[in-house]
Parts: sequence; C-alpha cells; structure tokens
Amino acid sequence: MAYGLLKGKKGIIFGALNDMSIAWKVAEKAHEEGAEFTLSNTRVALRLGTLGELSEKTGAEIIEADATSLKDVENVLLRSMEILGGKIDFILHSIGMSPNVRKGLPYDALNYDYFFKTLDISALSFHKLLLLARKHDAIADYGSVIALSYVAAQRTLVGYNDMADAKSLLESIARSFGYIYGRDKKIRVNTVSQSPTITTAGSGVKGIDTLIDFTERMSPLGNATGEDCADYCVTLFSDLTRKVTMQNLFHDGGFSSMAMSLKAIDQYNKSFNECD
Ligand SMILES: NC(=O)c1ccc[n+]([C@@H]2O[C@H](COP(=O)([O-])OP(=O)(O)OC[C@H]3O[C@@H](n4cnc5c(N)ncnc54)[C@H](O)[C@@H]3O)[C@@H](O)[C@H]2O)c1
Repeated sequence: MAYGLLKGKKGIIFGALNDMSIAWKVAEKAHEEGAEFTLSNTRVALRLGTLGELSEKTGAEIIEADATSLKDVENVLLRSMEILGGKIDFILHSIGMSPNVRKGLPYDALNYDYFFKTLDISALSFHKLLLLARKHDAIADYGSVIALSYVAAQRTLVGYNDMADAKSLLESIARSFGYIYGRDKKIRVNTVSQSPTITTAGSGVKGIDTLIDFTERMSPLGNATGEDCADYCVTLFSDLTRKVTMQNLFHDGGFSSMAMSLKAIDQYNKSFNECD
C-alpha cells in the first residue's frame, strides 16, 4: 500500500545492479510513493546487471558513474538536477565492494592496494558525493541522505574483512557531514545498518548463508529483508523524520542489541551434551 510519502520529491539512487539489490527495492518503493529520481551505477554494472529494466519500470534516467571519480559524481549531481528540474530532496548511497573479499584474502594478509580500493569505493565515495553536492548546493533544504551500512562497523563478524573498516569510516563520514549539512541547511545524513541480505555483494561475504541463519534466529523480529529496508528508507526520505540525523540506524530485527537468546542457550547446551 502506498501513502504518497515522497510525492513531488526528487532523488538520486546509487547502486541498483539487479532485482536483488537493496537499491533496486528502494527505487521501486520510492516510485510507488510518488518520487522521481535518477539511477546511477558503473559501466561494468550497466553491462552485467539489469538496470535498464528498473529504468523502464520507474521512468528514471540512468547516469553512468564510478563513485570514486569526482568528475563522474559531479556529473551525476549536475545531470540529475537538469533532468529532474531542480535540487535533490533525497540520495541513497548503496555502494560497496572489497577486492580483498572478492579475492578471498583474509584480514591478517590483506593487500593494501585492494584495501585502499575498498575504502575508496565503500566509504570515501560517500564523502566525495556529499562534498560535491555541497559545492553545487545540490540538495534542497530539509533533504535527506542515506548510506547503507552493516553491524560489522561495531562488532567483529568473521568473514566481513576490510569492509568492516570501510563501514566504520562510512558511519563517521555521515556524522561529520551530518553536522555541517544540518547546521547550514537542515539536511539529514544517516546510515542504515541493514540485516545480512542475499544480494550480489552480500553473497561475496564468506559464510553468508550461515550468518543469515544465525541472525534470523538471534533477532527477536527476524532478519529485515531488502523490501523492509526499502520501506524504512522511504520513511527516512519523507518529511516524517525531519529531526533524525547523524545516526547509524539499526534495521536488523533487533540483532544488534542481542547477546543471548533462549534458542541460542538451548542450542549451546545441546552441543555440549552431544560432545559428552
Ligand atoms: N547484502 C547485505 O547483506 C548488506 C547488509 C548491510 C549493508 N549492505 C550494503 O548495502 C549496499 C548495497 O549492497 P547490496 O547488498 O544491495 O549489493 P549489490 O551488489 O546489489 O550492490 C552493490 C552496488 O555497488 C556498486 N558499486 C561497486 N563499485 C562501485 C563503484 N566504483 N561506483 C559505483 N558503484 C559501485 C555495484 O555496481 C552494485 O550496484 C552496500 O553498501 C552494502 O555494503 C548490504
């Protein structure tokens, strides 16, 4: 059911690759809620993914960009304002990639060139986006910006590797720019820390299936799906959350606040009994 929460709002959505992508779900919901937006992703993603389908479905134009390139990001901002006919009300940064994870290099044997790439793609790109948006005064007063994060920024989860460091940096950038944007323009900057979700990027994390099963059992509300995440992002883009900024907002069914559950105690005891 749609509520018209984003009626008349203009946005930019980065990072939809295919229909599993969290950004794809956000784009579908934003469209349902009455928003107009542009879509952006890399040349490779446009070749390997199916963004054209989403563009057709939502009437959104695609602007190719590597989010680590200042020139490309500037072009996305300027072209989006041109296409949408004014300043931008909301931006979704749904971008992440670690060459170390892809190549299976463990945390204690990282390649530093890859590590820098991880940070550049997954965190510094958010800084670049916010810096350039400010330079061009591209975001409308009372606008809202979200980047997607993960609880590995606060807690160690085996297999998440250097992406954990990237997410910590991403969340810090949201706070630092959140102050500047809030002070000057009443613009919100937040990160949403999402449950593990089966997507192309998510599937790259070692042991993702077990992790998803574990967090599902440990979270009192169960894992949040990509669709749930899209619903939440829509509320954060809407005018109903105008005083929420500089936060890392956990959207994970309660997982991040859990330490032990009844089910986990049972399982723990059982595993010891089996060993006896
Ligand atoms: N899937 C999960 O379990 C999960 C959980 C929490 C947070 N997140 C975060 O959600 C975001 C979206 O990931 P997803 O799970 O939907 O996977 P996804 O693979 O669908 O999306 C990742 C996107 O990043 C884009 N990207 C990579 N390098 C880029 C670059 N240089 N410039 C521009 N775009 C680039 C990819 O093309 C892709 O569209 C990421 O930040 C991810 O870390 C994912």
